[in-house]
Amino acid sequence: MRLVLCLPLALLLARTACEGLSTSAVPKVLGNLPICIVTGANSGLGRECVKTLAATKTHVILACRDVKAGAAVVEEILEVHPGASLECQITQHVNTNCCAPGRSPQKLDLADFASVRTFAEQAIGDRPVSSIVHNAGVMGAPRQLTKDGHDLTIQVNHLAPFLLTNLLLPNMKAAAKELGRSSRVVVVSSGTHRWGSFEPDHLYNDKTCGPWQMYANTKLYNILFVSELHRRQGTLGITAVAVRPGLCRTAITRHSKLLRVLYALLSPILTPVDQAGQSLAAAVLGPNVEGGTYWNKLLEVTPSPDARDTAAQRALWEASLRLCAPKDTRPPRLTPAAQLRRPATTSTDGSYL
Ligand SMILES: NC(=O)c1ccc[n+]([C@@H]2O[C@H](COP(=O)([O-])OP(=O)(O)OC[C@H]3O[C@@H](n4cnc5c(N)ncnc54)[C@H](OP(=O)(O)O)[C@@H]3O)[C@@H](O)[C@H]2O)c1
Repeated sequence: MRLVLCLPLALLLARTACEGLSTSAVPKVLGNLPICIVTGANSGLGRECVKTLAATKTHVILACRDVKAGAAVVEEILEVHPGASLECQITQHVNTNCCAPGRSPQKLDLADFASVRTFAEQAIGDRPVSSIVHNAGVMGAPRQLTKDGHDLTIQVNHLAPFLLTNLLLPNMKAAAKELGRSSRVVVVSSGTHRWGSFEPDHLYNDKTCGPWQMYANTKLYNILFVSELHRRQGTLGITAVAVRPGLCRTAITRHSKLLRVLYALLSPILTPVDQAGQSLAAAVLGPNVEGGTYWNKLLEVTPSPDARDTAAQRALWEASLRLCAPKDTRPPRLTPAAQLRRPATTSTDGSYL
């Protein structure tokens, strides 16, 4: 029964693999292995993505808030791929010289901007980074504010990935120069972006927006972010894409008993977690990837009209820059109308942050 239900999906994946992305194309390596950071690598899709990348010539940094869980994934993968080049805080298995001696990777807690900055400065430093998979995320988490004063879902799913990307732009440009190909930013979005909306008020702790609506909004922000990043950095060595991995039975349902039951019942027709992880790896490795695009698993598709709204893309970028600035230097909020009128920030190297 399961086979019958999964067959059309398998055929679709096989067909789209031929048409679009493919994990088989390993990027050209000059000297050291290209470095890929995967956030939320200890669980679900992130773990599966690392498993695929581990079989290629890539040095993978597992960026997790629970470093013990990340280290367990490293051990698990090394049993299958003893030659893999993986890095986590507790376990480091590095078979290349691309990890500077004595470096001590840190945990990454996206709900804390200080942790994001420390990770960028201390775990990554000046190493070239050829790709980042912004996979970590929360769904339906009870409403709460982070210590940075933001809604948890917005910070984990959008603001912290935005900050980390901007902090690491110099590292990604360095990798692009070294490898002779653009670096990739892969953001894990979702089909729920179609229910999302971009209202500047939602970024400022608007209590009218519940956690499920907030999740959909942030998955829309993921695509808006990718499009604006492409506009600003596309010609400067950065290729940014958003991926919808498909519905998978993972710990993402942890905040809803009802969803857990529903996903368990539907599991025969859901996307297998390993396939979803492979489509994220394909977005890192695939040769035919245009910047600013949105992929449904392995197939490039058109996102919702709201996701293609260039004014919203720019307004989100500008608001995110302000919201990620340290609290004491954070510029005042602009009215939504003023945000839309404001000329685009010319600083694209993250120095504003
Ligand atoms: N599963 C689906 O059906 C589905 C569909 C569409 C899109 N997605 C997207 O896929 C991505 C991965 O989700 P998943 O399904 O693999 O769920 P998952 O197994 O729950 O993985 C989520 C990951 O995010 C990490 N994370 C959560 N809060 C964090 C924080 N504050 N700092 C750092 N890491 C944090 C989690 O770490 P801990 O283990 O420490 O909590 C975990 O590693 C998410 O962005 C989700 O929106 C999933």
